[in-house]
Amino acid sequence: MPLSVFSQRIEAAMTAAVSTTQNGTPPDQLTRAVAYAAAPGGARIRPTILLSVAMACGDDRPDVSNAAAAALELIHCASLVHDDMPCFDDADIRRGKPTVHLAFSEPLALLTGDSLIVLAFDHLAQQDADRALPLIRHLATRTGTPFGICAGQGWESERDINLSAYHRAKTGALFIAATQMGAIAAGQDPEPWEELGARIGEAFQVADDLRDALYDEAELGKPVGQDEIHNRPNAVTELGVDGAVTRLKDILGGAISSIPSCHGEAALAQLVQATAKKLIPSSSVIRVPGE
Ligand code: IPE
Ligand code: IPE
Ligand code: MG
Ligand code: MG
Repeated sequence: MPLSVFSQRIEAAMTAAVSTTQNGTPPDQLTRAVAYAAAPGGARIRPTILLSVAMACGDDRPDVSNAAAAALELIHCASLVHDDMPCFDDADIRRGKPTVHLAFSEPLALLTGDSLIVLAFDHLAQQDADRALPLIRHLATRTGTPFGICAGQGWESERDINLSAYHRAKTGALFIAATQMGAIAAGQDPEPWEELGARIGEAFQVADDLRDALYDEAELGKPVGQDEIHNRPNAVTELGVDGAVTRLKDILGGAISSIPSCHGEAALAQLVQATAKKLIPSSSVIRVPGE
């Protein structure tokens, strides 16, 4: 399945979900801020994984899979809007554009994040209850606390941070949601899919730590060196660049071997391989740590 097919499905589902915020007589700036935050520009990796798993499981109700993919990406977009606000990371740029609180205002950034979260759950609630209900519950678990991104962000207010619990909640949670919601959307048991999501999430966080340490703002479209500035524990300070790259490769190898047996197993393994290639920084970048 070419990735462009997933991308078309994701963008169409995002547009459909976001367009509902224009119903009635909405406040203009908030409506524009919601569309701005959800617009294409990110990698859309979580909904891509969700659709890949749904396909591997038969994808018997594509409308449900599309709604699940959009809901998951809406939660991710909301988390980025809040994460960039001055009370969290105080970032100026996201996906190559000014962050929502700078392009609009702080009150509107707070409301944009809130609106995107509610929109995500409302969008799922419009699907048939047999699949909508478990989708809503899984997404809620991976959004809130103790197993979701709220818990992950909450760790940053603790004096002593447990790195693995922090990363699993902050980043792993939405990757676990991706694989498990993909299975649920296709009518399959989500339980065997948790490990794959957790492993991809762990790999993604190590890759993000490497990018934060090695790349520049123009390449990433967001501020770099943030872990050092905010004194956050991360894989590069803990393991060094080479150690982090080795760790990343180990985790990715484990991810592929943890794919549950299913009809589309081989295609899914290919997609994880392709994702892995994108996550590992190129050797030319790795040669210049600290410069
Ligand atoms: C950034 O996620 C936030 C992290 C959890 C590290 P992505 O790197 O997937 O961001 P976009 O969606 O591509 O902008
Ligand atoms: C963002 O984490 C994670 C969530 C929003 C849940 P980071 O703060 O480490 O990611 P970036 O570097 O801003 O994308
Ligand atoms: Mg942050
Ligand atoms: Mg941040």
